[in-house]
Amino acid sequence: MESPFKSDVLKGKVALLTGGGSGIGFEISTQFGKHGASVAIMGRRKNVLDGAVSTLTSLGIPAIGIQGDVRKVEDAKRVVEETVRHFGKLDILVNAAAGNFLVAAEDLSPNGFKTVMDIDTVGTFTMSHEALKYLKKDTSSSSSSSSSSGGLILNISATLHYTAAWYQIHVSAAKAAIDAMTRNLALEWGTDYDIRVNGIAPGPIGDTAGMSKLLPDEIGNKTREYMPLYKLGEKWDIAMAAVYLASDAGKYINGSILPVDGGLWLSHPRHLAKEAVKKISRSVEKRSRAAPAGLPTSKL
Ligand code: COA
Repeated sequence: MESPFKSDVLKGKVALLTGGGSGIGFEISTQFGKHGASVAIMGRRKNVLDGAVSTLTSLGIPAIGIQGDVRKVEDAKRVVEETVRHFGKLDILVNAAAGNFLVAAEDLSPNGFKTVMDIDTVGTFTMSHEALKYLKKDTSSSSSSSSSSGGLILNISATLHYTAAWYQIHVSAAKAAIDAMTRNLALEWGTDYDIRVNGIAPGPIGDTAGMSKLLPDEIGNKTREYMPLYKLGEKWDIAMAAVYLASDAGKYINGSILPVDGGLWLSHPRHLAKEAVKKISRSVEKRSRAAPAGLPTSKL
């Protein structure tokens, strides 16, 4: 799909994306590149990175792939430094790397829980911490101007933890913590260094590892009945939200977590058909008008 944004809205920006070689991370890498950014993508699998970089470069996007695991502090440090060495600076960090699987809480080992926390939550913190010195602008400096504003951190979380999610205790905990970090860093680093820290909370996005792992077809079709927009999202939807937040259009947005899920997190199964509501609602009103004062209508 064609982007509604001008192709230079991220011109001159350098972005580093964890998990940037596949899925949602790769779509954000691609759209950032198509809108003028240079991109460094970090991931664990060399073949995935190589394929992603060759696709990006074939689109004319300056791109490098750097192998690394967000769970390792030394990898995080090396990847951030290599990005800056290659492109000369860092403007945007996107924390998109995540791990997930469906499992009932009672069958999840503490190490399974910790593994997801380590990738999603600790990984997000570690990467942000390592990137800080390149993203920050010292707001105490008198030379401050809008052209030297601080960078952006964009954390990809989820909507699972807004209520509760079956068989997702580890991911719900991890993503809730990421959202908390988004707000805390927005406060601390926004104030001290003019860095904006925002989040995107994708709903079910078609054609991703998350979808096939968490919403197999048997469940997926049923879930669609409860979706306000009655459709799955596309990776493109998440990438456009990312472009918006990363562009100057988002310059006053800090500490926000934008759900991009068609409103799914708000929804519940429909208990009554619309026609039935009309009938029931009228008759309940009539009954309550007829009821003598003080008598509970349920007794009539
Ligand atoms: N059900 C229950 N426990 C599981 C599991 C599953 N499907 N998959 C892994 N675990 C547990 C393991 O049993 C292990 O715990 P244990 O030592 O107590 O047995 C722990 O998690 C670590 O597993 P391991 O396979 O060693 O981890 P890894 O580092 O190789 O892989 C994962 C990390 C498990 C998160 C893997 O799914 C992954 O790499 N995912 C990245 C891609 C992804 O999930 N994308 C979706 C994004 S929404």
